Amino acid sequence: MFVGLDLGTSGLRALLIDAQQTVIAAREAQYDTARPHAGWSEQNQADWIDACRQVFAQLSADFPAHMAAVKGIGVSGHMHGANLLDETGMPLRPCIMWNDTRAAKEAQELDNIADMRSLSGNIVFPGFTAPKLAWVAAHEPEIFARTAKVLLPKDYLNFWLTGIYASDLSDSAGTSWLDVGARGWSETLLSESGMRPNQMPTLFEGSDAIGTIRDNIAAELGLPKAVVVAAGAGDNAAAACGIGALNEGDGFVSLGTSGVLLTGRDAYAPQPESAVHTFCHAIPNRWYQMGVILAATDSLNWLARNLQDSPQNLTALLGDALNGPGSMRFLPYLSGERTPHNDAQIRGAFLNVDMGADHAALTQAVLEGVTFALRDNLNALRTTGAQLDSLIAIGGGAQSRYWVELISTVLNMPISLPKAGEFGAALGAARLAICAATDAAPDAVMTRPEIGTTVHPRSDLRDSYEAAYADFAQLYPGIKALTQ
Ligand code: XUL
Repeated sequence: MFVGLDLGTSGLRALLIDAQQTVIAAREAQYDTARPHAGWSEQNQADWIDACRQVFAQLSADFPAHMAAVKGIGVSGHMHGANLLDETGMPLRPCIMWNDTRAAKEAQELDNIADMRSLSGNIVFPGFTAPKLAWVAAHEPEIFARTAKVLLPKDYLNFWLTGIYASDLSDSAGTSWLDVGARGWSETLLSESGMRPNQMPTLFEGSDAIGTIRDNIAAELGLPKAVVVAAGAGDNAAAACGIGALNEGDGFVSLGTSGVLLTGRDAYAPQPESAVHTFCHAIPNRWYQMGVILAATDSLNWLARNLQDSPQNLTALLGDALNGPGSMRFLPYLSGERTPHNDAQIRGAFLNVDMGADHAALTQAVLEGVTFALRDNLNALRTTGAQLDSLIAIGGGAQSRYWVELISTVLNMPISLPKAGEFGAALGAARLAICAATDAAPDAVMTRPEIGTTVHPRSDLRDSYEAAYADFAQLYPGIKALTQ
């Protein structure tokens, strides 16, 4: 038996699978995100541990025999978050999350360092880890002075499980401290951003074991002794492992809180100016590249909250099939944007709002705006030489057939939906656990899912969506000029 944990932005998902990857059970526990000031986003580490205890308590109560046979655990998690620990391993403050943009000024300063983009392969986005530490140094100097270790979110969970300070390369690539081509901490980047190598955890490939679970934690969680813990992965690399996107051209579109367009790469081909992210994959000798938008289902959730309705009801208003773009435009920059704009200050907008605009029209505009932003990401990804001809759709938003057909049409490529089942980051994490505990080869474990349906572009509507996208693409500079 193997357990995959995905520390998501809204909750922790635990997946129990057997050695043939048959799903035995999945359990979830939610936690909150605090937004104490505009642009801030924080979570308490103690809430993650509580969630972990809850999901294990449920699994052990319902599947005691299976849980007693667990051989390995793998953890994936939201990326870039800064957990600052004192020398005893206690958190010094809440985690500053991936969608927190307070460190925009610090990010700009770090991005100006001469070696930064060439060594890290990426722009220093405000959501990345290094600028957060620079912000803490400037605004909370006592905490910065006491920081003995900095861990990424899933690494904090691994530390709680094992007592070991470890990270994997896919997640560490999002810190701005990693030499992403050489797959190791960069002493240059660390020292130029005011950090010390001994504040960093030991690095592993995601599919390697970092050690075993502590005896007292094993007893508490209903697990046997000496369960192997994999180094794990950032959630996007883990999701890529979950759908077997390991190689050149294997890609997915993820409609989660953030929106991600990702493709596997056999070689390191950074293109920082495009605002594409170039990161190590969770398995050796491979990388991946992705465009990231900060508010995908988050934009729809925002609309639903304000219309006091549910995202499911709103998307249901649109039916299953497309019937051409609306006349309203939405810019989904509610939390600023990463790819392609790298702009923490920009905010969202509705344009062309008509007296007749109702819930359906607003929802359509939001889905189209997010989809056009994904098209911007496709254009950016293609500048790196990435070949992307088809995608698998994952994440909550992929349940809307309308949205998937819209993405297929606007990106002009077929989009496949896996048959019902597990194929996200929690499965990827469990697959990493299989590799770590059994030495199985990643390529043999991380296979492609069985496809349920493939949605094709609506050729009859291509031109009208292309024209609407062309309109959308002109809006960012104008809104930026008006608001900044
Ligand atoms: C990726 C990113 C997000 C988080 C969300 O760079 O910031 O996709 O990993 O989970």
